[in-house]
Amino acid sequence: MNQNPLQKLRQKLEITTSKYIDYVGYKIRSNDIGSVQVMKEKFILERENLLPIHNKALFYPCSGNDFDVAIFLFSPLITDFWFVDRGYFSPNHQDTRGYKRGLDAPADEQIPLLKGHPDYQFMGKKIVGSPTWYWRDYDIDPCVLTEIYLHVPSNRKIKIHRRRGYGISAFHKERFSLGVFFYRGDSQGEGGSGNLWLHTRRIHEICDKLVDGGLIVTDGSQHSYKQDHVYKELWKYRSGECPPTAEEIIKSARPFTDPEGRHFTCIGYAGHRYGPTLVWQVRKSGPYHPTTHS
Ligand SMILES: C[S@@+](CC[C@H](N)C(=O)[O-])C[C@H]1O[C@@H](n2cnc3c(N)ncnc32)[C@H](O)[C@@H]1O
Repeated sequence: MNQNPLQKLRQKLEITTSKYIDYVGYKIRSNDIGSVQVMKEKFILERENLLPIHNKALFYPCSGNDFDVAIFLFSPLITDFWFVDRGYFSPNHQDTRGYKRGLDAPADEQIPLLKGHPDYQFMGKKIVGSPTWYWRDYDIDPCVLTEIYLHVPSNRKIKIHRRRGYGISAFHKERFSLGVFFYRGDSQGEGGSGNLWLHTRRIHEICDKLVDGGLIVTDGSQHSYKQDHVYKELWKYRSGECPPTAEEIIKSARPFTDPEGRHFTCIGYAGHRYGPTLVWQVRKSGPYHPTTHS
């Protein structure tokens, strides 16, 4: 009998004894006197109820050089990864020329992002739009570089799209089924977008596009400063002390329901940026039941 792919995935998720999909990465931090420390950091994602994001897209506006956690944590589930930055494929762009991976180089000169990683086999690429754009020209000319990989551990094909352009316009123009909205490390300062992605109007837009049971992953960048804001748990630790371990941070982030009846629950931790990056699951229709969801 043919098995529904979601059933197969559910079985795979149940086979393992761990409650989490986890991945240990390394962050490099230099201290005041210039010496460099390499620190281990653990990222976790509760396995339960992740079926809604299976084969959906992850969208990350103003992503800069911050690819790894999003890709490594979500490769077993997500099919299309969208990274959008106005400074990609724009030689010498003031925001991107400093990134070590040469992200400002023309799209047709980019080295595959995951080249040499044992878990990913490069299968090809496609470019749509002009591979290069001079950043002082007035209108930004969008370009999408798509790289296709086989994610070996899950035996799934994934696509990584890097798009030169503005975050908000990509969010509206590109067509995808949104499983994960990923957003962090952004500000009003130099190089930051100044786009208020965590103000109420944008949160509604994100939630409208998000599938039921989809995720918002954020460190609380560009949040609203209104007191007693309904979404304030999303930026709870943005500029203050937080519990010492990922597990404690997840536990201390309180679930809440917004006026539209959407229920937000913290189900993971994706590292520290301008605060801890928390993974929130958004249910639009009451508690999510894996057996009835399709
Ligand atoms: C401060 S960096 C943060 C990058 C990344 N989020 C991180 O945490 O490392 C901000 C990035 O946003 C990009 N950016 C600024 N305004 C933007 C916009 N309106 N749309 C898309 N990208 C933008 C810049 O080029 C820069 O790479």
